Amino acid sequence: MNTHALLSKYDVPAPRYTSYPTVPYWSDSPSTAQWLTALNQGFAEGPLVPWSLYIHTPFCESLCSFCGCNTSITKNHDKEDPYIDHLHREFALYREQVPGLSQQPLREIHLGGGSPTWFSASSLSRMVEGILKHVHLDPQHFEGAVEVDPRRATLEQLKVLQGFGFRRLSLGVQDFDPETQRLINRIQPYELTREVYDRARAVGYQSINFDLVYGLPKQTTQSVREMARLTLELRPDRIALYSFAKVPWIKPAQRLFKDDDLPEGSAKRELYEVARDILLDGGYEEIGMDHFALPHDNLAKASKSGTLHRNFMGYTDQRTNILLGLGVSSISEAPTCFHQNEKVLPVYERQVDAGKLPTLRGHLLNDEDRRQREQILKFMTTSRVRLWNDAQEADVKEFLAPMIEDQVVRVEDGCLQLTPQGMPFLRNVCMALDLRMRRQQPQVKVFSQSM
Ligand SMILES: C[S@@+](CC[C@H](N)C(=O)[O-])C[C@H]1O[C@@H](n2cnc3c(N)ncnc32)[C@H](O)[C@@H]1O
Ligand code: SF4
Repeated sequence: MNTHALLSKYDVPAPRYTSYPTVPYWSDSPSTAQWLTALNQGFAEGPLVPWSLYIHTPFCESLCSFCGCNTSITKNHDKEDPYIDHLHREFALYREQVPGLSQQPLREIHLGGGSPTWFSASSLSRMVEGILKHVHLDPQHFEGAVEVDPRRATLEQLKVLQGFGFRRLSLGVQDFDPETQRLINRIQPYELTREVYDRARAVGYQSINFDLVYGLPKQTTQSVREMARLTLELRPDRIALYSFAKVPWIKPAQRLFKDDDLPEGSAKRELYEVARDILLDGGYEEIGMDHFALPHDNLAKASKSGTLHRNFMGYTDQRTNILLGLGVSSISEAPTCFHQNEKVLPVYERQVDAGKLPTLRGHLLNDEDRRQREQILKFMTTSRVRLWNDAQEADVKEFLAPMIEDQVVRVEDGCLQLTPQGMPFLRNVCMALDLRMRRQQPQVKVFSQSM
């Protein structure tokens, strides 16, 4: 079967596997007390337990109509101080109950959103200082990373974060094409992105990422070729080339797009292939299912050495077993538990004001979940994984029989191995290892299409 036919055949809803179980399959919700116990147990797993911190900043000044993130759209900057106060209060609540957060080394801090640079430079300074003064940074491995909207990024903001040790920065680009930008309500001239990129380099950021998206309205092979060419001109260290996740049942603004304007199925995948070929020719290495990095970058090194990791933020080069998320809607992870904060800002704030951790939901992992989480993580980061035993091998062979016949994947020597032509189907193959989904297929659409 040719690639075109394979792409049509396997274009089905599929999770992105940034966690296992995937969020719609979280079922055994922990109480706040159980979540705190799981965190404390995680910190007790060894004498030295490095951890990571994610801070969610939900605000953006305007809505990009393609966006699938948890955002709050406002131009009211009076909200800066109260939000920072709540972040600090939330972290204080954690520290009172989880001593490991003050004692164990913090390896990574990631400011994401929404748009962290919606906050002024002085607010960012107060936000980060109020957290970092209570923790020990891992002296050898500490990494600070921030997501930056180039339409709102000042030299001052970049300098403030650099001063706290931030060296990684991710620029939201999406596409350089003016017509696509108009349709996604995000006017961002190339020159503006270049200016912020140059500024970030001058300030001393060592690893700069571009977020690009394929499958956006009116994108063509021609326009995506230009997107890749302009990206090569700037040469960011990393590139995330995301498949447009169409989830209009969650994000109604995506209904503004005309179906005819949206590349889908094999036409959409072709956009990825066109951009990928240009990036590979330009010296980038393909990492996992949608990332690229120059060989000097830690992501490329981690991919080569088999230490690539994947969590809610996507592919990363560092692994910690504890990820604490602060802020509205943010997700945390411990060895035996996932936890998500309240998604509605006033509810989040009320809970924190009342001195409670703002638990919305989570999942207590059982032994099988933990085992499958490791297997899926391995497969998503190396495209190969050892199967547990003969029974799993037989089960996977039966489940993947059509894909094995189509030479998308092989089962050999007790291992599941993606073939070179199988890369577009990584998520599809992974579903064979997703026991929760296989036991209970979703009744309504919860995942975006795999292509
Ligand atoms: C929090 S934003 C990045 C920072 C900043 N808000 C910005 O847009 O510049 C995270 C990234 O997620 C990606 N993203 C958002 N919605 C998406 C969707 N529906 N499908 C695929 N990628 C999406 C975009 O590439 C975006 O840059
Ligand atoms: S893409 Fe970024 S700037 Fe646009 S709405 Fe989403 S989070 Fe905000």
